Amino acid sequence: MKALVLAGGSGSRLRPITHTSAKQLVPVANKPILFYGLEQIRDAGVTEVGIIVGDTGPEIRAAIGDGSAFGIEVTYIPQDAPLGLAHAVLTAEAFLGDDDFVMFLGDNLIEGGIRYVVEAFERDAPAAQLLLKQVPDPQRFGIAVLDDEGAIVRLVEKPKDPPSDLALVGVYLFTSAILDAARRIKPSWRGELEITDAIQLLVEEGRQVRASLVEGWWLDTGKKDELLEANRVVLSTIVGRVDGELDAASSVTPDVVVEAGARLIRSHVRGPAVIGAGTVLEDVFIGPFTSVAADCTLERCEVEYSVLMERCHLRDVPRMEGSLLGRDVRISRTERRPAAHRFLLGDHAEIEITEGRV
Ligand code: DAU
Repeated sequence: MKALVLAGGSGSRLRPITHTSAKQLVPVANKPILFYGLEQIRDAGVTEVGIIVGDTGPEIRAAIGDGSAFGIEVTYIPQDAPLGLAHAVLTAEAFLGDDDFVMFLGDNLIEGGIRYVVEAFERDAPAAQLLLKQVPDPQRFGIAVLDDEGAIVRLVEKPKDPPSDLALVGVYLFTSAILDAARRIKPSWRGELEITDAIQLLVEEGRQVRASLVEGWWLDTGKKDELLEANRVVLSTIVGRVDGELDAASSVTPDVVVEAGARLIRSHVRGPAVIGAGTVLEDVFIGPFTSVAADCTLERCEVEYSVLMERCHLRDVPRMEGSLLGRDVRISRTERRPAAHRFLLGDHAEIEITEGRV
């Protein structure tokens, strides 16, 4: 059994963060999303891992290296353009050979790991094994229609008029039959070779395609609100520890991680929350479900339900919530006249302002 991890694509829904970096490396609880998947693959006993990379390949390689830090052996597979999940599978043909494999979408987070699905697949040996989850917004996903016995009848990618609310989770198990099917499909209306169409072919040809429901949470971290929700869910599971320094006027609740080298000066953190290494908080309140990455500086701020990436500098921000800040973001208050907001924003930036209504 091998693993194929998809870490290419463009990340258009997480712009502007993903103008400059891979969406799979955006942190959740201060750890890149992709790392969770790689650890789950390893924990399922799969160590030969191919990673599909696109334009952001250099960044992915820098973060994962040869995989030894994760206890896996990584082969990088460049994909010329993000032409679809089935296209990614075909691109990996030489790596996959005739082996069975688990395909893991690099922007998906799934509770409880994948060991049980890998074991069920190896035991029962179907042509494909899918994971499904009931969702409130099926238009955004690949959708499965099941018959009364729970067998898959039909699969459809992002239907305008969804025939069911069972979404395909981004973890699939395949035999090499999927390669043959992927070779025979045509691009969809969105111009991609859809894995859903290739699996549909297997169903139509009477191959055994199994589906099981995911019981725990599953998060597709494609957009800001989903990412903040993923951060909330993962932070809810953390075990607090303080390796950094707190002065006598600072406090943290037991569900807070303060990494080594972080310093709190007259600051309070109400968890669950993580404060990265080398980050300094001075006269700050951090509220629940916040991840502050390494080497940030916050002075006189209140921040809640937010994700701050490395080296952000915030000064005199009275209240910020529901926010995702990329690396090296600076927000400060100024006495300069005329009194006005001044911005230097990248493409697709989003700002919401509440004070000083005209
Ligand atoms: O998240 C689950 C959904 O993932 C499924 O319900 C859908 O059936 C499936 O098509 C997929 O939909 P998305 O539109 O969310 O896929 P996305 O384009 O975001 O790509 C998923 C991952 O695969 C992401 O990490 C980028 C990577 N990728 C994507 C494409 C299209 C590649 O590496 N190469 C590609 O060509």
